[in-house]
Amino acid sequence: MSPNGEAFSVAGKVAVVTGGYGVLGGDIASALAAAGAKVAILGRRREALDEKTAELRRGGGEAMSLVADVLDEAMLRQARDELQSAWGHVDILINAAGGNVARARNDTTSIFSVPLNAFDEVLRLNLHGTVVPTFVFGEAMAARGTGSIVNISSMAATQALSGVLGYSVAKAGIDNFTRWMAVEMARKHGGRIRVNAIAPGFFVTHQNRAVLLQADGSPTVRAQTIMAKTPMGRFGNPDEIMGAVQWLCSDSASFVTGAVIPIDGGFSAFSGV
Ligand SMILES: NC(=O)c1ccc[n+]([C@@H]2O[C@H](COP(=O)([O-])OP(=O)(O)OC[C@H]3O[C@@H](n4cnc5c(N)ncnc54)[C@H](OP(=O)(O)O)[C@@H]3O)[C@@H](O)[C@H]2O)c1
Repeated sequence: MSPNGEAFSVAGKVAVVTGGYGVLGGDIASALAAAGAKVAILGRRREALDEKTAELRRGGGEAMSLVADVLDEAMLRQARDELQSAWGHVDILINAAGGNVARARNDTTSIFSVPLNAFDEVLRLNLHGTVVPTFVFGEAMAARGTGSIVNISSMAATQALSGVLGYSVAKAGIDNFTRWMAVEMARKHGGRIRVNAIAPGFFVTHQNRAVLLQADGSPTVRAQTIMAKTPMGRFGNPDEIMGAVQWLCSDSASFVTGAVIPIDGGFSAFSGV
């Protein structure tokens, strides 16, 4: 297939976006809907789901709400059944639920002061919160022999980011899980189910705003350190993620699986020197 507009299209595909009313997940959901995909927003809060779904519909998109916690397998199975009754199948799963957990951080204290249950919480949210939806929706893709899964990794997966051990371990797990599932799907369920990840650099969202920006909007010391190691010298805009996500979900990426794509203004390429 030549890399023309059609090859990059996601029009008519059925997508599930976990964390789809969050900042990055929300932007991905909006962009997929604008590109003609049918988008199911999956999350825990009915009101936030319905608000996002209504926004997508106002923009002319086809959308539905799926109430589920990404750690609750029974709820996810019910969501999958609802989706399949409404739209028949699933083509795309974006695992965008996740983020840091404040009490698991040790920015100014020793790691030994972090309660183990806080470590466990952030690990489970970010790693199991990707694994469980992948098992539930990936199984439906396997039954049909086609699909694309996009996970969200982080700069924390490959370099030590101070203060966020549990999050970093979880995101490193996501990189490994992405490659493992890519191999499993291709070998056991045919070459048309692909599993990839994007690794965003730094974007200001709900879960990190207080860590990156002071009350007056100026950067914190941590944000200044991040900028110094980002060759482009700025935060990313959530809409800068979408090109890579749409490509990974489209037929133009038909031979791409097990990849983790940095979207980071050069952060991961730069030693800082
Ligand atoms: N922002 C960045 O710079 C950055 C960089 C690298 C990676 N990421 C990753 O990008 C992803 C999206 O994060 P974001 O920055 O856009 O944060 P965000 O705006 O806080 O979005 C996170 C979303 O996850 C949902 N969520 C949390 N726990 C959940 C659960 N148990 N079940 C279902 N949904 C749950 C939240 O819903 P509720 O509001 O209901 O909790 C929210 O919709 C995360 O995986 C994050 O680690 C972000």
